[in-house]
Amino acid sequence: MQKLSAVEKPWALITGGSRGLGFALARECARKGYHLFLIARTEEALRQAAGTLRVEGDGRVEILPLDLSQEDSFPRLSKALEEKQIIPEIWINNAGEAYFKRFTQTATEEESGLIRLNVLAITAMTRLALSIMKQGHLVNVASTAAFIPGPGASLYYASKSFVLNFTMALSVERKNKPVTVSVLCPGPLDTEMLKMRGDKGKRAAFLIMSPQKAARYALKKITKGKRVIIPGLLNKIMVSCTRVLPLGWIAKIIARSNLR
Ligand SMILES: NC(=O)c1ccc[n+]([C@@H]2O[C@H](COP(=O)([O-])OP(=O)(O)OC[C@H]3O[C@@H](n4cnc5c(N)ncnc54)[C@H](OP(=O)(O)O)[C@@H]3O)[C@@H](O)[C@H]2O)c1
Repeated sequence: MQKLSAVEKPWALITGGSRGLGFALARECARKGYHLFLIARTEEALRQAAGTLRVEGDGRVEILPLDLSQEDSFPRLSKALEEKQIIPEIWINNAGEAYFKRFTQTATEEESGLIRLNVLAITAMTRLALSIMKQGHLVNVASTAAFIPGPGASLYYASKSFVLNFTMALSVERKNKPVTVSVLCPGPLDTEMLKMRGDKGKRAAFLIMSPQKAARYALKKITKGKRVIIPGLLNKIMVSCTRVLPLGWIAKIIARSNLR
């Protein structure tokens, strides 16, 4: 296959692209020949990520520090894309946050911040993406947590259920359109977010996957327009089990793991 010149390359926009799964997805997009547009809050981390990706590949890497839990970030992003004349062909809403504690121990600022980022920003960014993109692939990142209730991180699990159901429904509404819509549902990944769980995060060690492995699998499926993407056979089996077991049982099993 002929290699695309720097000008001809399409763009991939990835939120939370400075580390973890977002960085791994950015690296995979770069390997597949995309220029990168990365968003996160911390400018220095974005600069470092961009530096690494520029050394590894020959595409352009643009960064934009934005806090997506703030409403003014969406018009700012829209303006930046317009000014740079960038129309992404891959758009991945990956940035998300989690709190691993009982609901009553979660501070109201943590609660509203999580809902603003995991629910409201996903909604606003999806709308923005569909108003800008002409063709390609839009992806929202949920989790295998999206399929079940999660005592010990109830808001996080519920927010990911929103992402899963919203995105699946949208994908059906937009069948046969030039922008495909997918929801990516990874299981536990070896990232900063998992570290927040401390020793509890290591309980299902057999399920923990590297973000690179998840990203490589995800990109293959994203470019084929697959609706629901679950990296890893074990994760697929676990999700299938959640479809047949009573949710009350599952909640008790998760409580044992998250709250012990
Ligand atoms: N790790 C897991 O086990 C796991 C499993 C399933 C699904 N997921 C999902 O995968 C996605 C990525 O998770 P991860 O594990 O890679 O997390 P991570 O290592 O904590 O990285 C999160 C990324 O999002 C950015 N970010 C956080 N808050 C933001 C905000 N308000 N505005 C803009 N950017 C923000 C962070 O940069 P700044 O802090 O600089 O903003 C960072 O780049 C999340 O949606 C998560 O729910 C993770």
